[in-house]
Amino acid sequence: MEKKLKRSLTGIRASGNVHLGNYLGAIKPALERQADYQCLYFIADLHALTTTKDPQLLRSSTLDLVATWLALGLDVTRNLLYRQSDVPMVTEFAWYLSSCTGLGLLEKSHAYKDALANDKEVNHATFAYPVLMAADILMYDVDIVPVGKDQKQHVEMARDMAGSFNAVYGAPIIKLPQPVIEESVMLIPGLDGRKMSKSYGNEIPLFTAENQLKKLVMSIKTDSTPLEEPKMLSGSLLGDLFKVFADTATYDDLEGRLAKGGLGWGHAKAELFEVINQELKEPRARYFELRKDESSLIRLLKDGAQRAIEIGQPVLNRVREAIGFPSRSYKPA
Ligand code: ADP
Ligand code: TRP
Repeated sequence: MEKKLKRSLTGIRASGNVHLGNYLGAIKPALERQADYQCLYFIADLHALTTTKDPQLLRSSTLDLVATWLALGLDVTRNLLYRQSDVPMVTEFAWYLSSCTGLGLLEKSHAYKDALANDKEVNHATFAYPVLMAADILMYDVDIVPVGKDQKQHVEMARDMAGSFNAVYGAPIIKLPQPVIEESVMLIPGLDGRKMSKSYGNEIPLFTAENQLKKLVMSIKTDSTPLEEPKMLSGSLLGDLFKVFADTATYDDLEGRLAKGGLGWGHAKAELFEVINQELKEPRARYFELRKDESSLIRLLKDGAQRAIEIGQPVLNRVREAIGFPSRSYKPA
């Protein structure tokens, strides 16, 4: 008999252009799990509403993400890709979890505290964000949740909520998953040396026209050491990015040539562009091709939602019965 695959779940918010930091920090490691897990990937468009109020942007970034996952090699025959809002039972589940979640737990959320401290928009969804995220995670009996360091607390809160629910109803109804933190993935720096992030406007988009990519790479900050002087690749922003994309031999080679003097930063940036472009060239061509056919992307999302509902339905019915509600059947939105 075929061995039952363990299940992994990852969500990415639909809130603008995907950049190299998202690719290296979240998408690439998540795709590598396809070999050993059944993977549920979803586009967190309900979560995006806490900050995005632009319907056009929400729609286009959702489709951008679908084309991105596919172009990078997501195999949808075994794995699932769906849109969070196409599985409406997740908001029902969030309500059940809410009723067993103390305010004290939510008040500890770093994201909420950060929003308060920095005068960002704080609405009820900002505060309840971890409850919806817990519903995303707990509705599919998943084994692991691979996330970046910034999301670890949210996964731990989901475990706390599952524990409280099980304690209230006196039985192990909800399965507790493990967070898997990609410790080995470094924080990718942006064009100005700070963490690459949409909120700093210092990002290199993952898929953009080749000449635009080149222009951005050539704009990376370097010091003004003259061409003939020796230069240190390690410790420089250019070096940090080069290390991520080049193999060790290519890195050592550039490091050696820069250290000898006679090679300008401009040449080094052109070499960085080459290694990035090499990795992105093929998926980029696939991305632009896939992105043209919106109706196929939407069909694929519908299919993913249908399969997600099939997996989530028995879990939610376990929860409903524990609460005292009858089981019911669910249909996609
Ligand atoms: P942004 O900071 O641009 O808004 P998000 O917060 O939407 O990005 O991040 C989505 C995912 O990408 C998260 O899992 C996060 O850990 C990862 N990520 C974002 N920026 C980086 C970066 N500079 N380096 C590594 N991973 C990143
Ligand atoms: N909060 C995550 C982020 O900002 C996105 C997300 C929503 C998520 N639900 C999830 C991630 C469930 C993992 C599991 O990146």
